Amino acid sequence: MNRDFTLWWNDTTGSLSYIDQTLLPGRTVIVDCRSIRRLTTAIRRLEVRGAPALGVAGAYGIALATRACGKKDLTAFFSAVREDAETLRATRPTAINLGWGIDRVLTKIAPLTDIPAIRRVALEEARAVASEDTFSCHAIGSHGSGLLPDTCTVLTHCNAGALACSSWGTALGVIRSAVEKGKRVSVVACETRPLMQGARLTAWELARDGIDVTVVTDSSAAFLMRSGTIDAVITGADRITCDAVFNKIGTYMHAVCARHHTIPFYVAAPLSTFDTRHTEADVIIEERGRKEVTTMGNRVVVPDGARVKNYAFDATPMDLVTAIITERGVIQPPVTIDSILSLKNTS
Ligand code: MRU
Repeated sequence: MNRDFTLWWNDTTGSLSYIDQTLLPGRTVIVDCRSIRRLTTAIRRLEVRGAPALGVAGAYGIALATRACGKKDLTAFFSAVREDAETLRATRPTAINLGWGIDRVLTKIAPLTDIPAIRRVALEEARAVASEDTFSCHAIGSHGSGLLPDTCTVLTHCNAGALACSSWGTALGVIRSAVEKGKRVSVVACETRPLMQGARLTAWELARDGIDVTVVTDSSAAFLMRSGTIDAVITGADRITCDAVFNKIGTYMHAVCARHHTIPFYVAAPLSTFDTRHTEADVIIEERGRKEVTTMGNRVVVPDGARVKNYAFDATPMDLVTAIITERGVIQPPVTIDSILSLKNTS
């Protein structure tokens, strides 16, 4: 099995290293990111992407900001770091983990008064966020693998794998753990228009691990469910409120189809993805640029005169979700603030 990391601190160069996901599956290129400005661009371009990986990137981003800031006065230092934090936070409004990772490090360094100590503690906390994410993914895998039959075909959407996390993955973590336990799992990966995270990234990860994977167009999912080919759907999540699961655009239609065909629809996500402060109506759905839809490679596929809407995420109402698999166990809807907080407080 592949246990590579997606992003990590490079002690030799004092920078954040990550796999540039825009170049996969053609080329595996490692980028050394030394500034928060570069990281902001990387996140906007989806060089680094996927909710838990964004949490880790946000945490390392603050470590980078504390290193790059040359201010000697403590107030000016914190004000510059907080300004960088807000620029980074604004890059992807739907994925809650980004702000969560940023805030974890900001909270840890807030009481400190010595700038070298702030830099050291910021990096230590970012490292802790990264290693906890790996631990959570394995725990999610372990809890979720029990839900799958010994032989099954699982449909997934987008990429909720090692590339979307520090390593291992959430939805793909469940599949990896099930395979590790000896279950025979085949995966149907929806290609995930327009940026093809399913075709490019999920298929790349699973094929490397020797897990059976078939890529289909997004519009094939309903047909496959009706034909009896799919035993379960598992996706990740970018934010979970009590009333909805926000994930890559197209997830909602899979949930509707799964319910119609009595197929379980599972969501695999760490507790850091839960948002107890908002409901579906409050959440901003990220909209991305026109060009992602109007071009395929170098080919223009939409005429200039047509308007385009490019929603990055959708919301699946909680009543369509069979269960949410977290690192602390499996939750069955209805999801309440109390149930989330009590899971978060379980040690
Ligand atoms: O736009 P992306 O590629 O960042 O979207 C990612 C997804 O929607 C994933 O499914 C989600 O982050 C879950 S990742 C474990």
